[in-house]
Order: sequence, then C-alpha cells, then structure tokens
Amino acid sequence: MKSLNLWPGREKSPSKEDGEGKIPQHIAIIMDGNGRWAKERGMPRVVGHRAGMKTVKEITKAADEVGVKILTLYAFSTENWKRPKEEVDFLMRLPEEFLELELEELIVNNVQVRMIGDKEGLPSHTVKAVEKAIQETKDNSGLILNFALNYGGRKEILDAVKAIARKVEKRELSPDSIDEQFFHQYLLTPDYPDPDLLIRTSGEIRLSNFMLWQLAYTEFWFSDKYWPDFHREDFLEAVEAYKKRERKFGRIKS
Ligand code: IPE
Ligand code: IPE
Ligand code: MG
Repeated sequence: MKSLNLWPGREKSPSKEDGEGKIPQHIAIIMDGNGRWAKERGMPRVVGHRAGMKTVKEITKAADEVGVKILTLYAFSTENWKRPKEEVDFLMRLPEEFLELELEELIVNNVQVRMIGDKEGLPSHTVKAVEKAIQETKDNSGLILNFALNYGGRKEILDAVKAIARKVEKRELSPDSIDEQFFHQYLLTPDYPDPDLLIRTSGEIRLSNFMLWQLAYTEFWFSDKYWPDFHREDFLEAVEAYKKRERKFGRIKS
C-alpha cells in the first residue's frame, strides 16, 4: 500500500493512450562509465561510483513512474573482483551506503528490493545490508529493484547445468524433459520475464557477461553517456525508442 509519496512527479500507471502494453515490463541496465566520469574530472574512480548511486535513485524513480515492473541493475560482475582491492572494497560498501540513505523511501514507495548473484563471495556486511532491504520490502507489491551483485551470466548457466545434472545422475530427471522453460527455472530469475530492454551506458557495446540466457530476444539501447550523467530524460528516451521497435521473435512483419 502506498501511504506516502516521497517521489514527486510520479504518475499513476500509464494509460492506454500512453502505449500500455508497449511499456517494457523488465528493463536491465549495465551501469557503466563511473570510473571515466571521475577521471575526466580529475577525481579518483570511487567518486564516480558514489555519483553513480544518485543515478540509481533517479532511474529507479523514472522506471517506477513509467510503469516498469522490474528494473535489474548490474552493480558488480564476477569479473570485477579483478580490480584493485581498494576499489572493490569501496564497491562492497556502496550497497550499505545506498540502502542506508534510501531504504526508507523505497519502503514507502512500495518498491521490492531483490538481488541476483552469488552471496557466498560477498563480504558479510554487504550481504547483511542487502538481506535487510530484501526482508523489509518483501511485502511490497510495486517495482522490483533487482541488483545484480557478484553476478556472472556464465556462472549462472553453469550452476543451473550442475543442479540439473545432479538430478539426472540421481535418476530424478530424464534429459529429454529439459526444455527452455524448465531450464529457466534453474536460473537466478525463475520468477521474472526476460528483460524487454537492455540499456548500457558509457559507449561500450558489449554484454560483459550479463544475463546471457535472458537477453536472447531483448531489445538493446546503448548510450554514450557515462552512468553518472545518465538522467531521467535519457532513460525516457530509451523507453520511447523501445516503444517504436517492432519485436518479431523470428516471425515476419505482421
Ligand atoms: C561501472 O563503472 C561500475 C562498475 C563496473 C562497478 P566502471 O567502474 O566500469 O567505469 P569505467 O568503465 O571504468 O569508466
Ligand atoms: C560491467 O562493466 C559490469 C558492471 C557494470 C557492474 P565493466 O566495466 O566491468 O565491463 P568491462 O570490463 O568494461 O567489459
Ligand atoms: Mg566499465
């Protein structure tokens, strides 16, 4: 239940004329360019990460406003451990910092915080902060704000394969019964539809191991802006462009 609206400017769910049905239900974002944003300003990379946190808030609000149901944000990849320790340590503190500042407002705005990725590899203080947010927002029914943290698409697929192989080994499952729908249930996103729209900022045109299975038929939008410079209007531009796309899923034009 929405008791209070701390996010002014937020509209009710979109009307039919607004293109209902064409609003992407699930948007995934590769939030990239924090380091270069800071470097261009002669500041340490971590300053860019902190600035990027503000963008997370702004884009979460914008997504909620246009009627997006799930927003998956790539916050830390399984490859990001290769960065200098100081930067990794800083990034591992950011979820706490973000949630300390924003959890109350997320609760009031009916947002459900979720996470995909390997909790085992994360420091306990990071897991604690995220779990608290998940717990405190679990009864909300609004936007799902899903953080991909220590997430890797290949690892996700391998983990699913291993779990399924174990079932086959125990003769609980026949290999012939493994279809796409079944496989999807073993991924980290069993309850979510695949992303309709993927946004990557900072001008890089690659997936960097993000949602490899789920992005099979997703529409892509690349922005040259660094993540801290990516604002509501940029997000809305991506959503508008998405609405004009024709998704064919292998079919021919209708
Ligand atoms: C994205 O910004 C944030 C994370 C990967 C955690 P980067 O830190 O990758 O910034 P650039 O790409 O080096 O500019
Ligand atoms: C992808 O960005 C990971 C996140 C945004 C969390 P990177 O900056 O790590 O990707 P590469 O290494 O440039 O491909
Ligand atoms: Mg990067």
